[in-house]
Amino acid sequence: MTEQPEPVVRRGRPEDHDDVVALDIRAFEPHTSPGSSITARGNFFDRVPAEQHFMAWLDGQLVGYIRMGHPTPLPSNAHVMEIQGLAVDPATRGRGIGAMLVRAALDDAERRGMHKVSLRVMGSNPTAQRLYRRMGFEVQGHLREEFLIDGEYVDDLMMARFVRTRTGPG
Ligand SMILES: CC(C)(COP(=O)(O)OP(=O)(O)OC[C@H]1O[C@@H](n2cnc3c(N)ncnc32)[C@H](O)[C@@H]1OP(=O)(O)O)[C@@H](O)C(=O)NCCC(=O)NCCS
Repeated sequence: MTEQPEPVVRRGRPEDHDDVVALDIRAFEPHTSPGSSITARGNFFDRVPAEQHFMAWLDGQLVGYIRMGHPTPLPSNAHVMEIQGLAVDPATRGRGIGAMLVRAALDDAERRGMHKVSLRVMGSNPTAQRLYRRMGFEVQGHLREEFLIDGEYVDDLMMARFVRTRTGPG
């Protein structure tokens, strides 16, 4: 019996650039991303450096990434990490790679002493919402009719979870 290769998750590197651009183009559609892909705005790592990504590799191919940042540069907001992008290759979905990437991000947030991880997800993206709920995220805000996609208004959800599932210090 031949064994299925296992995905491997590692931190992003500048040399991943062309692979991640190609993946980003394959992965997003209007109902999962409100704008043209990050790619269209220049170098993929301009705004968020390569090291703030985790990359999933399967059999020598880049099959997923997660991008982490802070919602604002304010010191008073520095305890919050934000998932600013998550994508898995359409050909390898449903194998737990998305969950692995979110887990890698949560573990990293915990190692860095973060208190909370937040994200935004479109109301028209139930697959991603289910994944985030499964990983412990809850809706903390609902932006009604935030985007206009193909002539239809689409809501945006703000989701978050605490790094350790408690709300107070100690
Ligand atoms: C959301 C996304 C990252 C999930 O990646 P993934 O590797 O398929 O995630 P998982 O395998 O961990 O979970 C996917 C879910 O779809 C189910 N699924 C099963 N087969 C599937 C398939 N062939 N294709 C897609 N999903 C499938 C899984 O069982 C799982 O369901 P559950 O959440 O009810 O348990 C991926 O669908 C994607 O890249 N979507 C486009 C970009 C996007 O929406 N990004 C998030 C923006 S906020």
